[in-house]
Amino acid sequence: MTFVLPLILGHRGARAVKTENTLEAFRYACQAGIKWVELDAMLSEDGVVMVFHDETLERLTGKVGRLDEMTAEELQKLSLKSGGKIPTLAEVLDVLKEFGACANIEIKPSRSELARETARKIWQTVCEKGFDDPDRSFFSSFAWDALEETAALAPQIRRGVLVGKKSGDWRSAAEKVKAYSINYDADLLAPELIAEIKNRGYRLMAYTVNDPDRAKQLRSAGVESFFCDDPAAMRKALS
Ligand code: G3P
Ligand code: MG
Repeated sequence: MTFVLPLILGHRGARAVKTENTLEAFRYACQAGIKWVELDAMLSEDGVVMVFHDETLERLTGKVGRLDEMTAEELQKLSLKSGGKIPTLAEVLDVLKEFGACANIEIKPSRSELARETARKIWQTVCEKGFDDPDRSFFSSFAWDALEETAALAPQIRRGVLVGKKSGDWRSAAEKVKAYSINYDADLLAPELIAEIKNRGYRLMAYTVNDPDRAKQLRSAGVESFFCDDPAAMRKALS
C-alpha cells in the first residue's frame, strides 16, 4: 500500500447516514468503498481511547456528564440516541483492518492538559492494532501540542494541523510539528488563504464539505481533500 492523499474522507465515518463515530458508520463507509475515514479519539476516565466527538455525553446519549468521568466499561453500556454504542479506538481499527481501510485519527483531548497523554495512548493503540504505518494512519488535531507529541513519538506518521474559528496562528504550529497538511474549516477558506497555504508547501484539506458545488469550487481553488458526512454521495457527485 502506498499513501495517496484521499479526495474524500468519511467524516466521523459517515455521519449523515449512520450514527457518527460508531462501528456501523465505519462499516458503512468501508462497504461503500471509502478508503479513508476520519474519527475523533478521546480518553475515558480509565485512560482507554474511545471514539467520540464531544467532551460531554448529552448530545449523543441524552445522559448528563462527561466522557472523561466514566470508565470505558461504563461508557460501552450506554446507548447512543440515534443507535449504536461508543466504540473504543481498538474496535474501530479492527473494522478498518477487515476492509483494508485507513484512519485519520483526530486527537481530541477532553481537557487541554490531557493533550500529550491522549496522543501517547492513541499511538499505543495504533501500534497494538498494526496501524503504525504511514500509508494507513494520519493524525490531526486542534490541540497542536498533541501533534507535537506524535511528531516526537512517530515522526513517520503524517500530521495535519486542524484550524477553526478559535484557532491561533497555524503557521508557527505547522512549522513546529512539521505538518504535512493544514486541515481548515471550509467556511473560512478564501482564495488568498488557499494560495498562502499551498505556497508554504502544505497539502490542504477542508472540513466539512457536503455541497458538491462548494467542493468543486474549493477543488479548483486548490483544496485537495474533503471531509464529508455522506462520503459516497460526494464521491458520486465529484466523479
Ligand atoms: O477533522 C475534521 C473535522 O472532524 C474537525 O472538526 O469538530 O468535526 O471534529 P470536528
Ligand atoms: Mg473530527
